[in-house]
Amino acid sequence: MHLIVGGGVVGLSVAWRLARAGTRVTVIDPAPARGASHAAAGMLAPVSEVSYTEESLLRLGLAALERWPAFAAELEADSGLRLDYRTQGTLDVAFDTDDLAALDELAVFMDKLGLPVRRLTGRECRRREPMLAPSVRGGVLAEGDAWVDPRRVTAALLAALEKAGVALVRRRVAALVRDGSAVVGVRLEPPSAATGNVPADATDGGRADSPNGRPIDASDGGRADASDASDASGDVLTGERVVLAAGAWSGGLTDLPVRPVKGQIMRLRSPSPLLGTCVRGVVHGSPVYLVPRGDGELVVGATQEELGFDTTVTAGGLYELLRDARELVPGITELQVADVVAGLRPGTPDNLPLIGPYGPGLTVATGHHRGGVLLAPLTTAILHGEEGELAALCAPQRFQTAGQGSD
Ligand code: GLY
Repeated sequence: MHLIVGGGVVGLSVAWRLARAGTRVTVIDPAPARGASHAAAGMLAPVSEVSYTEESLLRLGLAALERWPAFAAELEADSGLRLDYRTQGTLDVAFDTDDLAALDELAVFMDKLGLPVRRLTGRECRRREPMLAPSVRGGVLAEGDAWVDPRRVTAALLAALEKAGVALVRRRVAALVRDGSAVVGVRLEPPSAATGNVPADATDGGRADSPNGRPIDASDGGRADASDASDASGDVLTGERVVLAAGAWSGGLTDLPVRPVKGQIMRLRSPSPLLGTCVRGVVHGSPVYLVPRGDGELVVGATQEELGFDTTVTAGGLYELLRDARELVPGITELQVADVVAGLRPGTPDNLPLIGPYGPGLTVATGHHRGGVLLAPLTTAILHGEEGELAALCAPQRFQTAGQGSD
C-alpha cells in the first residue's frame, strides 16, 4: 500500500499513475482538489513564463508540456471527462514604452534559447485578439504554449481513482510515523480538526463530488477501503511507502524548505469567450494573465504574496488584478464575477520542485510553486525513473547541509 499525502493535482496524478500500474494506493487529504489546484489558472506556458534566472525550470516545463497531450488524452479516456485542454498558445503583450522595452529584451533572450516565439506589433496583437486595448504596444506569441482547466483535471483524476477503487481518506495528516529512520506511515489529526486549513472558499467542507454527483468516498472517509492500512484507533495509517504531495503544507511534515506563496485569482463569466488565446501582460511593471475557457469563463490572475498560510481574499488583491487586466482588455469590466479564491503555492528557495525518494519509506513530490498543473505529468514520469537528467534538478536532498537529512 502506498499512502499519498495530498489530493491536489500532483498527489492525485501520482496516485493515478500508481493505481494504473497495479499498486494499491490510499490518498489522504481533508479537502481533495480544494487547495492550490482549485485556485490555479492552468497555464501550461513554459515558454511565455520563462525568466532570465530560471533555465532549469524552463527545461522542466518544456519536458512537461510535451507530456501533456498524452496525459490529457489518457485521463479523458480513463475518466470519461473533458479537461478543456487547449493549445492555442500564449500572447505576451506590453502596455507602455517601458513594458515594451522589457518585452523586446525578453524576446531576444527567448531567441537565444531557441524558443519558438514570434514578435507581433500592437496591430498584429489586436488582429489576433480584437478585445485587446488600443494602447497595447506589441507582443510575443508563444504558439506552443497550452492551457487546461485545473478543476476539470482534478475532477477527472478523482473520477479515474474512484473507478480504480482507490481509497480516499478525508483527514489531515498531523505527522509522519517513523520506525528508526524509516517512514512507515502517517498519524492523522482527529476528524474534528480535519477541515482546519481548507481554503477560504471551501464552504461546502471541501467535498469533491464525483461526476454522478455522489461524494466519491464514504462518509467514514474511505475508511472501509483503507482499513488494512490503519491501526486499531484509526489514527495511524501504515504503508510500505509514503508519498508526500502536500503542497504548501509539506514543510510542516518534514525538513523540506517549502513555504506558502499566496495567489488571489478571479473568474469572470461572459456569454461567449472574450479571448481565443491565453494573454499575459506586464502593466506598468506588474504581471497579469487572462486565461479563457471554452465555456466563456475568463480567469484573471494572480497575486503573489508572502503571508504565511493566509487565504483571505482581499479588496486590494482583487483591485490589483482588475486594474491591470482592464488596461489590457477593457471589456472585462462588463463581465460577471463568477468566483474569487486565494490559494497557496508551495514555493522553494530555487523555485524548482522537490521530487524523488527522501529517505527510507518516503518519497516527496512537492514544491511545484507556480507550476503544479504543468509539471504534474513530468512528476509522475520522474518518480517512475523516466527522466534521469531532469530528476537530478529536482533532487529533494539539494538543500540539505552535511550531517542533516532523511537519507
Ligand atoms: N502559474 C501561474 C501562477 O502561479 O500564478
